[in-house]
Amino acid sequence: MATHTQLPAINKKKTSSAQSWPVCSLFAGCGGLDLGFKGRFNFKDEEYPETGFEIRAAYEISPQAVKTYSLNIGDHIHEADLTDIDPNDIPAHEVLIGGFPCQDFSSCGPQKGLSSERGQLYKVFLKVMRVHRPKLVIAENVPHLLRMKKGEVIRTILSDLESEGYRFQAWTLYAPDYGVPQNRTRVFLVGVRNDLDGFPVPPAPIHTFNHRSIDWAISDLEDVVDESVPNQSQYFKANRAKRGNGQGDETSRIGEPSYTIRANAKSRVQFHYRLPRRLTVRECARLQTFPDDFLFTHSTTTNVMQIGNAVPPVLAHHVAQSIAGYLRNI
Ligand SMILES: C[S@@+](CC[C@H](N)C(=O)[O-])C[C@H]1O[C@@H](n2cnc3c(N)ncnc32)[C@H](O)[C@@H]1O
Repeated sequence: MATHTQLPAINKKKTSSAQSWPVCSLFAGCGGLDLGFKGRFNFKDEEYPETGFEIRAAYEISPQAVKTYSLNIGDHIHEADLTDIDPNDIPAHEVLIGGFPCQDFSSCGPQKGLSSERGQLYKVFLKVMRVHRPKLVIAENVPHLLRMKKGEVIRTILSDLESEGYRFQAWTLYAPDYGVPQNRTRVFLVGVRNDLDGFPVPPAPIHTFNHRSIDWAISDLEDVVDESVPNQSQYFKANRAKRGNGQGDETSRIGEPSYTIRANAKSRVQFHYRLPRRLTVRECARLQTFPDDFLFTHSTTTNVMQIGNAVPPVLAHHVAQSIAGYLRNI
């Protein structure tokens, strides 16, 4: 494994900027990663343009997540258990993306690592790579994955992925450095097929010295108590606990990025920095950089779970731009 501080030079061949690259998305959830890859969305009046990636097919086991995805992104999503899928049934693609389930690698989860059935789901990438030979693979996960069992877990995963004829780097990205108003770090395992020269350059952090705060993201919602902004009236009316140790039940701090928006909702949703209630579903979606027209149609629990599971679309868009920059030059 190389880290992103050790970068081979990029090949300088120039081609048209209007290229498009077919993508397959695994474990797509409600589509945070996919929205970022696709581009063409607005967040807080900023435009995140088209990237050149065309998602041909996406796969997800949860029918509720599939519904959210198809409503907001497109009907190329398939409800499927990826452990049963025949990769020959997946359309051809040049880029394979996905966030394999992270509960067993998360510092706040059961930490079963590779010993659980869920911990083995990264192997779906292997079988798809074997058949389709995508040029690039981007697998997203939690940073604790790199530390588990003193690095043994990530070494196993990377050696399995590399044995398919790829070389990988792990990019650890801190979301506030990319304009996401939330304390969240994610790891992107980026793989390039061995016959291709060079490597994508990780996205440059552009907000390191001006992190966006929770109030920057949601203060305009303070007086909105109805659905004039979708999902703004939806929140848990649970009592405030005494202490949450940063894992929920805390009161958000004004002037700073919010705490991490987590998938296992209920009592874990943070309290508003000023109002006597927990954050609403829309406020959680804003902190994850979903546009306001991205709708969540399920219960508070399911909606917060989908939002908390997602890659912030703005962060994903930065990663996608880096990958597109590389593809344009090979
Ligand atoms: C970390 S989430 C992915 C979030 C997504 N990348 C996003 O940005 O919105 C992992 C997803 O894998 C799905 N999943 C878990 N096991 C699966 C399986 N066997 N087949 C297909 N999807 C599965 C879960 O339902 C969950 O939505």
